Amino acid sequence: VADTVVAEAANAIESIEAMENRGFSSRFPLNSSFIFTFGALGGMLFGFDTGIISGASPLIETDFGLTVSQTGFITSSVLIGSCVGALSIGALSDRFGRKKLLIVSALLFLLGSGMCATATGFLMMVAARIILGLAVGAASALTPAYLAELAPKERRGSLSTLFQLMITFGILLAYASNLGFLGHNLLGVRDWRWMLGSALVPAALLLIGGILLPESPRYLVNKGDEHNAFKVLTLIRKDVDQTQVQLELDEIKAVAAQDTKGGVRELFRIARPALIAAIGIMLFQQLVGINSVIYFLPQVFIKGFGFPEADAIWVSVGIGVVNFVSTIVATMIMDKFPRKGMLIFGSIVMTVSLAVLAVMNFVGDVAVLAVPTMILIAFYILGFAVSWGPIAWVLIGEIFPLSVRGIGSSFGSAANWLGNFIVSQFFLVLLDAFHNNVGGPFAIFGVFAALSIPFVLRFVPETKGKSLEEIEQEISRH
Ligand code: GLC
Repeated sequence: VADTVVAEAANAIESIEAMENRGFSSRFPLNSSFIFTFGALGGMLFGFDTGIISGASPLIETDFGLTVSQTGFITSSVLIGSCVGALSIGALSDRFGRKKLLIVSALLFLLGSGMCATATGFLMMVAARIILGLAVGAASALTPAYLAELAPKERRGSLSTLFQLMITFGILLAYASNLGFLGHNLLGVRDWRWMLGSALVPAALLLIGGILLPESPRYLVNKGDEHNAFKVLTLIRKDVDQTQVQLELDEIKAVAAQDTKGGVRELFRIARPALIAAIGIMLFQQLVGINSVIYFLPQVFIKGFGFPEADAIWVSVGIGVVNFVSTIVATMIMDKFPRKGMLIFGSIVMTVSLAVLAVMNFVGDVAVLAVPTMILIAFYILGFAVSWGPIAWVLIGEIFPLSVRGIGSSFGSAANWLGNFIVSQFFLVLLDAFHNNVGGPFAIFGVFAALSIPFVLRFVPETKGKSLEEIEQEISRH
């Protein structure tokens, strides 16, 4: 009897080990679609929390009796928080790992959303929005690196684009939540509280995802934990055999072995070309004015063309759909075309649409220009969504050497939030300065779209189809 028990136990241990080898954990049979979807979920909260306020802020303004500048501050406080969140998360993620910090950002998302929904006044709302910002900023620096580090090189572009896809989906959800809750004080709770509180659902999903997700294999190698790195790679490369997984691991190890300890000093010393590319690309992504459309389009149509509010919100929804659908296209073509070529294509589409839009609005008759303006904005969004929208985030996850990847993508991401803040602060002022003629601000954005072309040609490395290790070797040779 004893022999049989021992033999049974040995069998059981063997089969558990076999399962552990196949998957990261035998308790949670994760597959790679789950990992990439949940890994990118931070994007959905990013899109939701930045998009939701456009519909909620006028209601909050009335309820709390706020001044216009106080309302403006509630909107922009999230961007300030994001800049700080992005900057502080990088060094931490190089030190403690991507997974743990994803969990921390999910907790911040929960806390911030809960506080927003239950805010009793201006100060609590600002504090809540800053906490949300910290979470959005953290997620925006963590997710691109995490996805890039998990993806196989042939599909890294598409899989990393899932982050932007989630962002655009989050923006759409926010518009839908704005429309859906508006005017219905369900269960006697004010509509804007529902709008802001609905972010609790994706935040809870991100928390669950964060707990179940595996750590990034490259981070594990960097910390000397090859055993688990091998396990994670085996799990996410189901289609290849273990010899190939071992080869990939060897390549990661070889490059990691030459790497330095990391930190800000190292970032400036060994990764300057990558840093210039990342910061430039992020500033251009914002200075082409994308968020003037995402955050303020209703105002543009109300002020510029005299639309009633409800119609103006529907224009936003339409543009949100174009943005989301074009990003799906981007996901499908991302690994087929060179990233630099796609960026330049996007810049040309945006420059031309913005130029035509501007000239038209300066010389044409405002009474007939609303529909042509809408169409041109749709082209502009399409140009952005298949290029700069996703690729900027894809690139900051892949162009930095492993030892400074977290901190590097932090700097890139912080530049993005800074650019976002500048555009969001000044867009309405600019529109006013041009007497509500959208041609004015959009002409300025068009100039940035044109300037982005020489920047890409001169400073951005091509990364399509190369392993992160190949990119690292190439960039450090410059
Ligand atoms: C990018 C930008 C973000 C913008 C979004 C629109 O993710 O970084 O600021 O709101 O695209 O789709």
